[in-house]
Amino acid sequence: MNQYDTILIIGSGGREHSIGWKLLHDTKKKVFFAPGNGGTDNNIEIDSNDLTKLCQFAKENNSFTIVGPEKPLSLGIVDLFEKNQLPIFGPSKSASRLESSKVFAKLFMRDMGIQTASFSIFSDADAAINHVKSSAKNVVVKLDGLAAGKGVFVCDSEKSALQAIQKIFNDNEFRNSRNKILIEERIYGDEASFIVLCDGKSIVPLATSQDHKSIFDQDNGPNTGGMGSYCPTPLITEKISTKIMEKIMNPTLKGLNDRGIKFRGFLYAGIMIERGSNEPYVLEFNVRMGDPECQSILSRMDSSFLEYLEATMDEKLDSMPPIRWKDRHSVCIVMASRGYPGKYQTGKVIHGLNSKFDVDTYVFHAGTKKNSMGEIITNGGRVLSVTSLADTLERAKNKSYSAVSKIHWGDNEEYFRRDIASKGIKYMKSALSE
Ligand code: AMP
Ligand code: GLY
Repeated sequence: MNQYDTILIIGSGGREHSIGWKLLHDTKKKVFFAPGNGGTDNNIEIDSNDLTKLCQFAKENNSFTIVGPEKPLSLGIVDLFEKNQLPIFGPSKSASRLESSKVFAKLFMRDMGIQTASFSIFSDADAAINHVKSSAKNVVVKLDGLAAGKGVFVCDSEKSALQAIQKIFNDNEFRNSRNKILIEERIYGDEASFIVLCDGKSIVPLATSQDHKSIFDQDNGPNTGGMGSYCPTPLITEKISTKIMEKIMNPTLKGLNDRGIKFRGFLYAGIMIERGSNEPYVLEFNVRMGDPECQSILSRMDSSFLEYLEATMDEKLDSMPPIRWKDRHSVCIVMASRGYPGKYQTGKVIHGLNSKFDVDTYVFHAGTKKNSMGEIITNGGRVLSVTSLADTLERAKNKSYSAVSKIHWGDNEEYFRRDIASKGIKYMKSALSE
């Protein structure tokens, strides 16, 4: 790639804060955030979906741009920047359909023989209802398009599946995205996030991780963007990792290339390891880093992240040495506004951010901003992602919870799950006793 003078990170979440934090260890170049949050410096007031202004900024500052969230990718930011000969990390609009259209992704997986839950596609409610009534198994109802984690209904009865279909076809909330829905067979097992770097020719896996998607402990309640993560996860053994590469990642890259679609960026497979068979199934593809997986992954990365991003841009991933990971565990706990993923209040002053935390505890910001007095206030659903490193998963968990206990806002208005990484600790114990 051409020489560049600055780095521009697009997005405003904990993922983007952690990417910036890592890159600032890797380079002396100036790192801008658009629009960033209360924890990031050098924020520029451009919305992450305002492609024209972002392009103008990158041109004027000779930036290498890294795209955090999916929306600008699905709008074609990479295509626009490339037309302007600006270096940008992420897949094209066409490659982004793996995430922006679940129907596209499922048909692609079916064509390539990639293991995923069986599915049917519907564009009207009656046919979907008939399908559910004739199905003996529990189902998952999904909207085709991007819905910020809110378009998936995991059902445990025929009644709840019918309610999900009614909701999608009747609620105003889904007016713009309900053209097509998917009904999948529900698979039972444990989930993990398998994220790789892909330069269109080669694939380099990052460390494995596990997200906690539901809002309440023990995976109860509605889905969120992710309430916490830990890295690495013992769920992905070497054997399963090899299977995922051979049966999922390599065929995905081949399938894209066969269709003339070049994939450059992060490819994230949400995997379910089916109980009983121990086989990995793809639940979804994302074409970006996970949030909060990114925070726990990058806090363990010892190698220069920037060098791997550059090698991806130059299609030289195959000549890179293996990524060095700190021989430690990381745990990231998301602190959210009470009420998230439903309605919540913002504008609360956050106290305790300057507390004395343990070494290797990092407080990445997400939904925060600075008010006119320079105080950090809440500004979103997921507010902070508190991440710690330690020599065991249990210690990393305790360190993060100890930091979380020092941070407050409003009248007990912060909310977090109390069981982040507990599943990982349980998997480890059961592996030891086998
Ligand atoms: P998705 O956005 O498609 O990954 O779905 C969000 C979440 O719904 C996943 O992380 C799973 O927890 C759950 N889910 C999605 N599809 C299925 C499925 N076929 N079987 C069981 N759970 C699923
Ligand atoms: N943590 C799930 C996601 O980023 O999609």
